[in-house]
Amino acid sequence: MDRIIVTGNGPVQGQIAIAGAKNACLALMPACLLSEEPLTLTNAPRLSDIKTMTELLRSLGAEISALSDGQVVAMSCHGAVNHVAEYDIVRKMRASNLVLGPLLAREGRAVVSLPGGCAIGARPMDIHTDGLEKMGATIELKEGYLHAEAPGGGLKGAAIDFPFASVGATENIMMAATLAKGTTVINNAAREPEIVDLASCLRKMGAQIEGDGTSTITIEGVERLGGATHQVVTDRIELGTYMLAPAICGGEVECLGGQIGLVESFVEKLHLAGVDVEETDKGLKVARRNGRIKAVDVKTEPFPGFPTDLQAQMMALLCTAEGTSVLEETIFENRFMHAPELVRMGADIDVHGGTATVRGVEKLKGAPVMATDLRASVSLILAAMAAEGETVVNRVYHLDRGYEKVVRKLSGIGAQIERVSE
Ligand code: UD1
Repeated sequence: MDRIIVTGNGPVQGQIAIAGAKNACLALMPACLLSEEPLTLTNAPRLSDIKTMTELLRSLGAEISALSDGQVVAMSCHGAVNHVAEYDIVRKMRASNLVLGPLLAREGRAVVSLPGGCAIGARPMDIHTDGLEKMGATIELKEGYLHAEAPGGGLKGAAIDFPFASVGATENIMMAATLAKGTTVINNAAREPEIVDLASCLRKMGAQIEGDGTSTITIEGVERLGGATHQVVTDRIELGTYMLAPAICGGEVECLGGQIGLVESFVEKLHLAGVDVEETDKGLKVARRNGRIKAVDVKTEPFPGFPTDLQAQMMALLCTAEGTSVLEETIFENRFMHAPELVRMGADIDVHGGTATVRGVEKLKGAPVMATDLRASVSLILAAMAAEGETVVNRVYHLDRGYEKVVRKLSGIGAQIERVSE
């Protein structure tokens, strides 16, 4: 199994190109099931999660080719479609559940394995299934699979109130509703940039959608959707992650393709911590002001609040801040697994339920640590870049799910980092 070895050294300097958003691409790809015509995505990130979605869509009958070294994904799905998403693929990645809405809309039936447990929490599917039931689907759980059917002429538009602004449920219902009969209104919809990106791609395909980016999305069902070419939005989580490199190590880094609008609440916290962020014509330039980082409190919330997917990386920054920071995780119930690993590196952190108290120490020290999930792994790498001595990060396959060329990107700004294969 591969390991990443990081030796802490001085400030970082240079530019990092930010890739297209993994989470946007994972929602955009299943949209190919909604049309008989080709859907082409540009600026796709080259990640193992994208390969898993490719494998899943191929198993359903889509033809997919990766061009330009994987940055362009050309998909087409004509003729008959297999409506069963098998456990063997779905268990690898929760986002596989995003085929449920499109399959049901296209075929009038779908059998999709439940994704099962996940390291960061239980993550049920009730918001997705309740919404589809409101649209006339019948859904039963049998032997680990959701069996969904839209009897009597397919899905019908409905008014759906989400109890929580779930990202995946908003995407699933939005896709299903594009081909339903009549109008669907999603109240308390998620407002993430990835939802706006999906809606704009669906509109290019001929869908009638309004209100994406707000809490109320209205979708008027149409007879059929066509093909489109769409550029995947910038990955705001990869952006935030690399913005933290100069914040933690000192120095100045320009994140190419970065936009403030994608990371506003995160940038607010960086300012409070003593980090400067400036918009340039190419992206965002980040530099640490003189002196030590200041402690700040952080609470994760749905967009536009502070993203849960940047909580672990922010904790890595706050480990060496002056003072005590309180991090509250409100989205997932078990998302502090990086805390004990950071403690192995000398951090002073107490976790009680959904709250972590981080008392800043002067410096972290290198140690062997274990990557427990995608964002946790990268937080350990960031922490290691400013720590004294060598850190060995084990189980790095998590990283390949969400960070393309991480070693190359970080060594490009001066980090001492290498990947070692056993
Ligand atoms: C997406 C992102 C993930 C991010 C998360 C929150 C993708 C591929 N993944 O995940 O990186 O961390 O948004 O920003 O885009 N919930 C229910 N019932 C449901 C659905 C969700 O209780 O039917 C709960 C979950 O258990 C969780 C919370 O709602 O506690 C947030 O989940 P959701 O917004 O749906 O996240 P995902 O779409 O799975």
